[in-house]
Amino acid sequence: MEPNDVTRCRICEGAVRPFLDLGKQPISDAFRESDATGPEFFFDLVVGLCDSCTMVQLLHEVPRERMFHADYPYYSSGSATMREHFERVARKFLSTELRGHDPFMIELGCNDGVMLGVIAEAGCRHLGVEPSAAVAEVARGKGIHVRNQFFEESTAKDIAATEGKADVVYSANTICHIPYLDSVFRGLDEVLADNGVFVFEDPYFGDIVGKTSFDQIYDEHFYFFTARSVRAVATRFGFELVAVERLPVHGGEVRYTLARAGSRAVAPSVAAMVADEERAGLAEYGTCADFAARVDRTGRELRALLEQLCAEGRTVVAYGATAKSATVANYVGITPELVSFVCDTTPAKQGRLTPGTRLPVVGPERFRDPYPDYALLFAWNHADEIMAQEPDFRETGGKWITYVPDVRVE
Ligand code: SAM
Ligand code: TMP
Ligand code: ZN
Repeated sequence: MEPNDVTRCRICEGAVRPFLDLGKQPISDAFRESDATGPEFFFDLVVGLCDSCTMVQLLHEVPRERMFHADYPYYSSGSATMREHFERVARKFLSTELRGHDPFMIELGCNDGVMLGVIAEAGCRHLGVEPSAAVAEVARGKGIHVRNQFFEESTAKDIAATEGKADVVYSANTICHIPYLDSVFRGLDEVLADNGVFVFEDPYFGDIVGKTSFDQIYDEHFYFFTARSVRAVATRFGFELVAVERLPVHGGEVRYTLARAGSRAVAPSVAAMVADEERAGLAEYGTCADFAARVDRTGRELRALLEQLCAEGRTVVAYGATAKSATVANYVGITPELVSFVCDTTPAKQGRLTPGTRLPVVGPERFRDPYPDYALLFAWNHADEIMAQEPDFRETGGKWITYVPDVRVE
C-alpha cells in the first residue's frame, strides 16, 4: 500500500488515499465447521480517506452475499446492555416521532428483532428489512413483520407502493455496512414521509482514532463516519443532518438524525461536533497516518505479550468471538499455539473455528473449567457485562488482557 495507490470514493468519486493496510483478512463472521476442508475467502483490508468529501472507507468491497446470508451468526439480543439500549431507542420513538395517526416505522438490518420487538408489542405498524434469513426468522417468531431482503432503491420503491411512507427509518450498525449509499438515499427519498426522519447509529471514526480501536475495521464496516462526512453525503442526496448524539455502546458510536433538506431545524449539536472533529484533525491524512502508526505498535506489543506468556507456559484463552476479533487475530497472528480457544455464548458460533486463525469457539462454561491464567478480551466493548459474569476469575489470580486503547494486563 502506498499513499498514492488512490481509488475513487464510493460517494463522490474523489481520490481515496489509503492510510492503513491490515493485510489479508477473512470474512469476519465466517466461522468454519471444524471438519471443513475448502479454501477460505480472503481479501485485502485497506482503509483510506477521501480527499474531497472526507469519507473514510475501505478500498476493497466484499460482495454482500458472502457476509449476509442464511447462516449469518450475529444475534443482536446476545448482550443485555444492547437489549436495554434498543428498548430505550424504541420507547423514545414511540413517545416522539410515532405519536401521530397510524404511524409507520421501518428498520434496516433489524436482525433478531431486538428493537422492533418493542415497537411490534406496542401495536405500531412497522417493517424490518433483513437479508440474513436465520436472524430474520427469529424476528418473525417475535411477531415482527420482516422482508428477507437487502435494502436498496428497488426494495424501497416496493415498500412505498405496498405499505406507504414511513415516519421513521431507523438503522443500527448497518448503514456503515452498505457501500452503495447512493441507492440507499434514493430509496429513502421514495419511502420516507415528507416530515419523516432517517436515524442511524454506527461506530464513530472519532472514537476509533481516539481509542486506536482498529478492530472496528473489518469486511462488514465499509464506512467510518464523522458528522462532517455524513453531513456531506446527506446534502449530496437532498437530505440534511439535523442532529447528532454520541453513544457509549460498541466502544463509541454516533446517532445521526437526517431529514429532508429544509424540513427540520438543525440542532446546535451538528456544528459543535463538526468543530470538535476539525480540532481533532479527523479529516487530515496526517491524523490517519498517526493512527496507523499506533495500530502497528499495538499489534507488535500484543504479539510480544502473547509470545512471552506462551514461552512461560501460561494458559491463555480469549473471550468473545466477535467480528472485530477477526481483524486483531489475523493481523497479530493469534493462532491456537498462542490462545487455546475463544468462549462465546452464541450457539451458532460454538463448535466452529474462528475465520482465518482457526481458534475453536466454545461455550462460556469452558472458561471456568478450570480458569486460565490470562483471558484476552476480544469483546472489550462488553467488558463490564462479561467481567460481571466472571467475578471469580480475578479472585483466582486470573488476569484480563485488553488492547484498546493500548495493551494492558489487569
Ligand atoms: N441492527 C442490529 C444491531 O445493531 O445489533 C444488527 C446489526 S448487524 C451488525 C448488521 C445487520 O444488517 C445484519 O443483520 C445484516 O444481515 C443486515 N444488513 C446488511 N446489509 C443490509 C442491507 N443492505 N439492508 C438491510 N440490512 C442489511
Ligand atoms: P459484538 O461485540 O459484535 O456485539 O459481539 C459480541 C460477541 O461476544 C458475540 O458473539 C456474543 C459474545 N458475548 C459473550 O460471549 N458473552 C457476553 O456476555 C456478551 C455480552 C457477548
Ligand atoms: Zn468522497
